[in-house]
Amino acid sequence: MNKVYIETYGCQMNFADSEIVGSILQKNEYVVVKDVEEADFVLINTCAIRDNAEQRIRKRVKELRAMQNRRVLKIGILGCMAERLKTQLLEEEDNVSFVMGPDSYRKLPEVLALVAKGEKSAETELSEVETYSDIAPVRLDGNGISAYISIMRGCENFCAYCVVPYTRGHERSRDPRSIEQEARTLFEQGYKEVTLLGQNVNSYRWNCDQDQVGFPELMERIAQISPLLRVRFATSHPKDLSDELLQVMAKYPNICKCIHLPVQSGSERMLKIMNRKYTPEWYLNRIEAIRRYIPDCSITTDVIAGFCTETEEEHQMTLDMFRKVRYDYAYMFKFSMRGGTYASKYMQDDIPDDVKTRRLEEIIALQGEIALENNRQEIGRTYEVLVEGPSHRSKEQYCGRNSQNKMIVFDREGVEAGQYVHVQVTDCTSATLLGKLVK
Ligand code: 5AD
Ligand code: SF4
Repeated sequence: MNKVYIETYGCQMNFADSEIVGSILQKNEYVVVKDVEEADFVLINTCAIRDNAEQRIRKRVKELRAMQNRRVLKIGILGCMAERLKTQLLEEEDNVSFVMGPDSYRKLPEVLALVAKGEKSAETELSEVETYSDIAPVRLDGNGISAYISIMRGCENFCAYCVVPYTRGHERSRDPRSIEQEARTLFEQGYKEVTLLGQNVNSYRWNCDQDQVGFPELMERIAQISPLLRVRFATSHPKDLSDELLQVMAKYPNICKCIHLPVQSGSERMLKIMNRKYTPEWYLNRIEAIRRYIPDCSITTDVIAGFCTETEEEHQMTLDMFRKVRYDYAYMFKFSMRGGTYASKYMQDDIPDDVKTRRLEEIIALQGEIALENNRQEIGRTYEVLVEGPSHRSKEQYCGRNSQNKMIVFDREGVEAGQYVHVQVTDCTSATLLGKLVK
């Protein structure tokens, strides 16, 4: 039994973690397979951020039972859902052999050996120090062009609604030398784009061996590897977004002009009870700073509709915030109460589901209009695009992203994935730009 199939749900961070998992397995004589039918083990790397994420995973575990009835197949649940539910998950899903939290992946070879013998296991201890910095991730299902690099783990912010500080533990930053090495190796292997990942990259801090590195300096080091290596990052917390970082972004053309700045709500009272540690004024001041230093920067966000006690007026304030900022893209969610969070202990999930749904739909409709209007303004402009490959619709059409992270589709005309080309925007939808190659 040595073939492992890895399935990943949730955020970019989880995709990066699955690549660490793959690397640990391959060093220990396990083979990561691309077809679940071949596998001896299925590892499901899970997300616990909202209830619907967990429900999807439970459905998948039940589906796999049919395969287990035909042959020997062991299932392990990794990541945030394993950390949140621990042995409870083993009791509730009896076809699962083990659960393992995000700081225990080094134990995988040992645990798989036990599981192969028919034992069950739960490894859910969190660590104050684990960053997997010595593990070079294997690139799973990658396009060979862009890759994630995890630069820190955990979160120290304790937003009232969020389970992440409990499932991923305390914040810790990774050694900048190992981050730089990983980025260099990727570039030498032909990668053209790296995304530096953390829950709150602005609080990245390394204080060791006379080396004091904050996030702006880390970005500079990575940007200096090569002007042909694009650098992106996610996610930023508005309370920590510094002018210094914006200056570094403005200075290097290969640092992509795109900032993901989760707003969560437009109401001062909501932000306060969410424990976000900024006001709408502060947030708008940061938006203004972005526009001042980087006029062509795209801005994206996360928002939650229907957090505890949210009034209609406060919901309107969120819509107003969207009108003021005019985001290029937004991830929009209904509030979902999560066990263990501050909200679950001290607040009531008192907004009826139909009200949450209606508020969410209003935000989605407004954002759709704004994104379309923003995209219409792009018509006529020319961008440098990193070609990713064929578009979904046709092999004759290729697609790639500009620095602002907007997808542009154009006629192939002989270009190859991984090339930089110039494309003039000719048309758009609210999600995509259409363009023609400029030669
Ligand atoms: N309910 C709904 N959305 C949530 N998020 C985090 N926790 C919850 C929750 N309990 C959203 C936030 C965060 C994004 C990753 O997920 O908007 O920025
Ligand atoms: Fe959750 Fe807030 Fe941390 Fe983001 S910053 S992971 S929303 S606690």
